[in-house]
Amino acid sequence: MEANAEQQIAELARRFLPDVERSLREAVEAGGELAPMLRYHMGWENLEGTPTRGGGKALRPILCLAACEMSGGDWRDALPAAAALELIHNFSLVHDDIQDGDETRRGTPTLWHLWGVPTALTAGNAMRVIADHTAGALTAGGTTPDVAQGTVAELTRRYLEMIEGQYLDLSFEAAERVSVDDYLDMIGRKTGALLESAMHMGALVATGDHATAQGFGECGMRLGLAFQVRDDWLGVWGDPAFTGKAVGADIRRKKKSLPAVYLFDNVSDEERPWLEETYRAEEIEGERLDGVMAMLERLGGDVYVQRIAEEQARQAVAAVDALAIPEESKQLLRAVAEFFATRDM
Ligand code: IPE
Ligand code: IPE
Ligand code: MG
Ligand code: MG
Repeated sequence: MEANAEQQIAELARRFLPDVERSLREAVEAGGELAPMLRYHMGWENLEGTPTRGGGKALRPILCLAACEMSGGDWRDALPAAAALELIHNFSLVHDDIQDGDETRRGTPTLWHLWGVPTALTAGNAMRVIADHTAGALTAGGTTPDVAQGTVAELTRRYLEMIEGQYLDLSFEAAERVSVDDYLDMIGRKTGALLESAMHMGALVATGDHATAQGFGECGMRLGLAFQVRDDWLGVWGDPAFTGKAVGADIRRKKKSLPAVYLFDNVSDEERPWLEETYRAEEIEGERLDGVMAMLERLGGDVYVQRIAEEQARQAVAAVDALAIPEESKQLLRAVAEFFATRDM
């Protein structure tokens, strides 16, 4: 795989993100009374309303605009789709933090932790509606009504799939066994679908051609799988200083992220009763939490999960190679795949 992956992504961010952020800031103001909460969640200001420089990596807009440019379009035409994606993603995170019981995201307290669950739910809903509204602006640029409609339909289809994946993720918490195939199906929906739509929409805006857009979408889906497997790795072995999340939170909440799936597949017969009893508790805490972490270590869970992340990244590279785009663009997407599978934050 290519070197300097992070530099190449930083270069895309430098070119695209000022315009994306401008669209996002404008869009969020439609939240009216809810706007301060939304600005807080986006990392633009703190509780006192003082400007901050936080926020997410904006990978979905970056991939959407890159796909638009790589397939021969003007990336600015895809800006409404890119901004809508980032808003949908952030709506999902506001609700996800409630559902996962996470008190920290991007190194700051989560919305529900500060304002309470009912209020955070309304803020998430507002973010979602604002996203729909933002996507509606596609026709303002050079995009024809037909292509704009197809693009919005793709976003809606995929974010419903994302919600479905989130449902599966939650239902797995209580499931006794989850296979690797079930797990991959779940993450394909909860994370892959939105990244799929990112690249699909970018290419569709550029070309108006559904077959081309599908090829890019396939690539986004594959990248999403690598991204989420690495996210699961970071959820257990990541450094909170980089991830901005509490260490061990996924295990504590009994998430069937890939480390837990691996554990149940590989635990010895002698230790299985202990593991099953541990997972019958409401939450895994104290010595039990340490015990699960030690078991994962003993069974080589970190090496396994990382191997799967890299395997997924290789499949993403194969999807990239199947695209009819210049070698330079392929190289960039290969760098993205590498970054997704090895990132620290
Ligand atoms: C976090 O996504 C949620 C997942 C789908 C794994 P990101 O890591 O892209 O979140 P931010 O927006 O950059 O914080
Ligand atoms: C987030 O998944 C995916 C969605 C919100 C759809 P996770 O729960 O795995 O992501 P993090 O680790 O909290 O960011
Ligand atoms: Mg979560
Ligand atoms: Mg979750």
